[in-house]
This record gives sequence, C-alpha cells and structure tokens, in this order.
Amino acid sequence: MRVATIGELSGGIAHELGQPLAAILANAQAAQALLAHKNHDMEAIGEILEEIVQEDSRAGQVIHRLRRLLRKGEHQSALVSLNDLIMSTLRLLHSELGNRKVRVETELKIDLPPISGDSVQLQQVLLNLMMNAMEAMASTPPSRRTLSICTRTTEEGYAEVSITDCGPGMSPDELGRLFEPFFTTKERGLGLGLSICSTIVRSHRGRLNLSNASGGGVTAIVSVPLPLHLAAAS
Ligand SMILES: Nc1ncnc2c1ncn2[C@@H]1O[C@H](COP(=O)(O)OP(=O)(O)O)[C@@H](O)[C@H]1O
Ligand SMILES: [Mg+2]
Repeated sequence: MRVATIGELSGGIAHELGQPLAAILANAQAAQALLAHKNHDMEAIGEILEEIVQEDSRAGQVIHRLRRLLRKGEHQSALVSLNDLIMSTLRLLHSELGNRKVRVETELKIDLPPISGDSVQLQQVLLNLMMNAMEAMASTPPSRRTLSICTRTTEEGYAEVSITDCGPGMSPDELGRLFEPFFTTKERGLGLGLSICSTIVRSHRGRLNLSNASGGGVTAIVSVPLPLHLAAAS
C-alpha cells in the first residue's frame, strides 16, 4: 500500500500554490508588456487585474485549508494507543523498509496508557520521523541500518516515543534550523516535514525534540501528555 507522507502532502500544497502564483506572475507581466508598448487598453488591464485578484484568493484558500487542518483544537480527539499506531505505521512502511534494507528494533512499553489525540495526524508525525530516519541511513552500510523505536512513560506524565537511526547525525547548524519551514539538506527535500510535525505535536500539547544520539545517529522524541487519570495509574 502506498502511503502519503507529510512530505508528499506538502508537495501537493506547494503544487497547488505554485499554480496561482504562476498565473499571478504571468498576468502581471502581461500588464507590464501592455504598458511598455504604451497600450492603455483599460478594459484589458482591468481583466488582467481581475484575474490576479482571483488567483490570489485561490492561493489564500489553499493556505486557509492548510491552517484549518493543523489548527489547535480542530483535530478529531479519541484515545490512541501509540504502540498500535507505531505497529500500523511500520506495516505501512514495510516495503519501504525492505527496499532500503533497514532493520527495525522495537522496545514498546507493554502497558503504555493510551493518549488523547488525532490518530491520522499522529501517524503523519511517525511516518515523517521514520522516513527522515530511513533517508538519513542511505549512506550507512546496510548491515548497520537499524531503526530503533521505543515507547515509555515519563515521571512528568507523558507518553514518549523515541525513534533512533544509525545515520550521520546532525551538525550544530542543522540542529538549529531543523524546524525552519523549507530548511532541507536533501536534493529533493521540501523541508516542511519537521515544521508540520512540530505543529501537530504542539496541538496535542506535546513536544518534539531531535538530538544527536550517542551511537552517532539522531534520536527524535515525541512526548504527549497522558490523560490525567491514566498518568496517575501508570
Ligand atoms: N534523522 C535525521 N538525521 C539527520 N538529519 C535529519 C534527520 N531528520 C531530519 N534531518 C535534517 O532536517 C532537515 C529537515 O527535515 P524535514 O523537515 O523532514 O524536511 P526534508 O525531509 O524534506 O528535508 C533534513 O533535510 C535533514 O537535514
Ligand atoms: Mg522529511
């Protein structure tokens, strides 16, 4: 089964925005050309401006839809088992993992309490972090390409997922810019994955942290608060 990751979704958004922007540019240039030729056909210029207004509002709608998708409090809340979500995400990535020769090690806390959240959005976070981890291991020898995934609860009452790769890790400059929209070091990257992940995690009142792992790769940690009564019990 093909999975649409945030990278692809944001690729779609970039495409949807690209069209109205291109139309606005073409129209503005057409108007400039008319003026350059001292052609003051007000009707033609009026039509051009009208089209610019329409394309601009189309671009605005794309942004509005994206913001609504990610806005705090607008997600479907239900009890979500992070362990189950991890396992179903790994099933989605089964062939991707095989093609990239990546082995998976999991250490999931057996009685991890469920958290309250939107499973579709949280799965996007896991997918994107796992894709980043796999992409980071492209130059790691196949025998060392391990993706480690652990879950645990913390004393502060959070459920925590950590995803660790055996890639090259990150430079201080990269570490400082990870969450900048459009920051990417990949030839075909969009650089929106982590900024969208962080928005989703924050809308769940959680945190997303990436740091260099002691073994050389990167560990991404997602922590989401447990519902109060479950935090007390765990
Ligand atoms: N596991 C990782 N190992 C090394 N670098 C990473 C890792 N995850 C993210 N990065 C760095 O963060 C950048 C931004 O990631 P992201 O927002 O997902 O965008 P993209 O994957 O499109 O580049 C990546 O281009 C890469 O430089
Ligand atoms: Mg990415």
